[in-house]
Amino acid sequence: MAEIAQITLDGPAASGKSSAAQGLAKELNAYFVNTGDMYRALTSVVLSKGIDPETQPEEIEKILPEQDIRYVSGEGLELLLQINGQLAQASQVRSPEVAAKVSLVAKVPAVRQWLVKRQRQSAELGLIVMEGRDIGTVVFPEAKFKFYVSASPLVRAQRRLVQEGEVSEGATVEKVAAEIAKRDEMDMNRAVSPLKPAEDAIKVDTSDLPLEEVISLMATIVRKGLS
Ligand code: CDP
Ligand code: CDP
Repeated sequence: MAEIAQITLDGPAASGKSSAAQGLAKELNAYFVNTGDMYRALTSVVLSKGIDPETQPEEIEKILPEQDIRYVSGEGLELLLQINGQLAQASQVRSPEVAAKVSLVAKVPAVRQWLVKRQRQSAELGLIVMEGRDIGTVVFPEAKFKFYVSASPLVRAQRRLVQEGEVSEGATVEKVAAEIAKRDEMDMNRAVSPLKPAEDAIKVDTSDLPLEEVISLMATIVRKGLS
């Protein structure tokens, strides 16, 4: 397969992947795709239909053919997530209710197959920065630039706690840390496409690194590799 100049970022919850990926895409004039929001979008549909992802995974598979979750072009390089023709709202995809169930939906093999196919289609757009859990290992295993972003569990919980709309009312750092740990555990131990660094990924621990430094470090590596 020909070498693909795609840029992948994988890592656990609240490690700073999407902020770094978004910033990097801006620096490089590339498209940015957040695949976690695609899994979250499907989870919001599943929950709205009253399907329990824990006990009824087969019901999720049944509704897939009627669903349409995709990124469409917005202004310039902006990509907008649509759920069945409607623009996805942050309140819909980033809610604590969706966060609590998304890993159960994401471990269904048919769901992964269905979404990975859609994610690969984005490669046709041009230079792309895509973030998620299995982008460097499964979606674009031939990508030229792969990063695995991490941060300590405490730092990640502290970061998530202050993100508006992402945690329940009255949440504490301990509670958020426990929720994140539960989701990471599921993501790292599922049978299909578990979260793990690709063998050729560059590991970036962002615990003590400001976001701007993370972006600049990655941009330097990519620019050097592209020139
Ligand atoms: O933003 P945060 O790190 O909390 O999570 P996310 O990137 O929005 O991803 C939400 C969930 O979707 C993850 O916990 C995984 O269960 C699933 N996911 C996945 O399985 N594969 C991906 N490529 C992206 C997300
Ligand atoms: O996508 P993921 O869940 O991995 O993390 P995020 O939503 O991009 O980042 C979580 C929060 O950490 C955001 O408010 C970022 O501004 C902040 N942060 C960061 O992303 N990277 C750093 N090096 C420092 C802070």
